[in-house]
Amino acid sequence: MMNNNVQCRFGIPATLLVGCLMIPALSASAQTSPTFTADVAPILYEKCASCHNPTGIGPMPLLEFADAKTWAPLISLKVQAREMPPWHLDKTTGIQDYKNDISLSDDQIATIVAWVAGGSPEGDPAHLPPLPQLSSGDEWQTATLLGPPDFVVESPPYTVTANAQDQWWVRNTSFEGLIDEPRYVRATELKGSYPLGVKVLHHGHAQLSSQDSNGNRASGPVGRQGVGKAGDVFEEGTGMLIYPSGSINWNLHYFPINQEVANEQAKAAVWLYPKGYKPEFETSGEQFFAADTGPGGLWAGDLVLPPDSIKSQQGVRVLQRPALITSFRPHMHMRGRAQSLEAVYPDGRREMLARVDKYNHSWQISYKFADDVAPLLPKGTMLMITSTWDNTAENPNNPDHRQWVVFGQRGVDEMSHLWLSVTYLSDDQYERLNAERRRSLTAQNGP
Ligand code: HEC
Repeated sequence: MMNNNVQCRFGIPATLLVGCLMIPALSASAQTSPTFTADVAPILYEKCASCHNPTGIGPMPLLEFADAKTWAPLISLKVQAREMPPWHLDKTTGIQDYKNDISLSDDQIATIVAWVAGGSPEGDPAHLPPLPQLSSGDEWQTATLLGPPDFVVESPPYTVTANAQDQWWVRNTSFEGLIDEPRYVRATELKGSYPLGVKVLHHGHAQLSSQDSNGNRASGPVGRQGVGKAGDVFEEGTGMLIYPSGSINWNLHYFPINQEVANEQAKAAVWLYPKGYKPEFETSGEQFFAADTGPGGLWAGDLVLPPDSIKSQQGVRVLQRPALITSFRPHMHMRGRAQSLEAVYPDGRREMLARVDKYNHSWQISYKFADDVAPLLPKGTMLMITSTWDNTAENPNNPDHRQWVVFGQRGVDEMSHLWLSVTYLSDDQYERLNAERRRSLTAQNGP
C-alpha cells in the first residue's frame, strides 16, 4: 500500500492514478470503518432506541441492521446537525451539565458519520450487544425510579379529528376522595393514552387547585407534558403540597395525525411522599415564566414578525425571593429559532444560564440541570429571557415566510415564554444552600 502511495506521488498516467487511489481507500475502509454491530449499534441502543423502536414515538425503528442501513444517510445528517437525538441546547454557552442529557458526544457523532461514509458495513454479528430494555408506551417512565404511582387522574374524553389545525381541549374535572389529608407530591407525569393518544398530544397541563376544610389553598401541576419531556421528579426533600379537595384544569393541545383518535383521555400520575412527611423545601412545580417588563411584556403579546424577517425580543423579570431553578423548557412556535435565559445578579454580574439554538416547536424538552449547577439565585436577580424568531425561507420549520406573524395560540402564530421548575427559598435556606455549594466547590477545586 505504501508503494501505491509513493508511486502516485511520483505521477503516473491518470488511468492508473485512479486505480492507485482506489486501492488504499478501499483497504483503509475495510480496516478502519466502524461497523454496525461493534460500534454503531451500542450508540443507537443507548441514545436512539427509547424512541426508535416499533412502539416508540420515533417514525421508524432503528434496532436492526437493515433498518439502520436504510436510514444511514439521513441518520448521518441528523446527528451532525445535532437535530437527533432531540437535544437542542447551544453547546457553546450556558450550563452544560444536565441530568437528562441524551445528546451524542463528538466521538459518537464521528463514529456514526464514519460508518455511513464507509458504506455502513454490518460487521461481525457476534459483536452485536444485547437489545436494550425498552419500556412500552403505556408504562409510566417515572415508575422505573419510584414504583407505581399513588393515584392517576384522567381528562374528559375528546375526539381528535383526522385532519385539522391544532386543537385545544380545556375542561375542569373535580378532585375528590383520592387523598384524605394534606400530602406532599414527589413526582408527576402526564401523557396521552397509549398507543394513539401519545401521538396526538403535543403538550398539555393538568393544574390542580386544592383546598382543605379550613380554607387553606394550594395550586400546582399534577402533570405537564410536551413531546420529548419526561415526568417531573422533585429532589428528595422537595415537595409540592396538595389538599384533599379541589379541581383539575386540563389544558391539552392536540395535533391531528391523519387518523381519528376517538375519545382520547390524557392521564396524569402522581407519586406522593409518605403520610406525615414534611419536606424541607416546598415547591409549586414547573411554572409558566414570562417577562413582566421590557418590550413584549408578558409572553410577547405585542409581537409582530414581518415577512422574511429575523427578530429578537427581550424581557426581564426580577426575583422577589431567592430561588433554585431545576429545569428549563423554552417555548415558542414554528418560527422560533433560539431562546435563552440569563441572570443579572444584584452585584451586576451577568451570566448565561441556558440557551437553545436549534429550537424546534415539534419538541418541548425540559432540560434538567444537574444538582450541583442548578441556578441558585439571590433575591433581586433579574432573569432575562431572549427569544429569536426566524421568519425567513432559511428556517426549515417555517410554514410560510411571506406571512406577517403575530402573537397567538396556533402553531403558525407566535409566543415566547419559558417553563421553569422553581423552588422559592427563605433567606436562611438560600444562605445555607449557597454555603454548601461553596464548600463542595472548594472541595472539588481547592481553596
Ligand atoms: C426522544 C425520542 C427520540 C430520540 C431519543 C431519537 N429520536 Fe430520532 N426522531 C424522533 C421523532 C419523534 C422523529 C420525527 C420528528 C422529528 O424529526 O423531529 C425523529 C426523526 C428522526 C430522523 C428523521 C426521519 C425522517 O423521516 O425525517 C432520523 C434520521 C432520526 N430521528 C434518527 C435518530 C437517531 C440516529 C437517534 C439517536 C442518535 C435518534 N433519532 C434519537 C424521536 C427520537
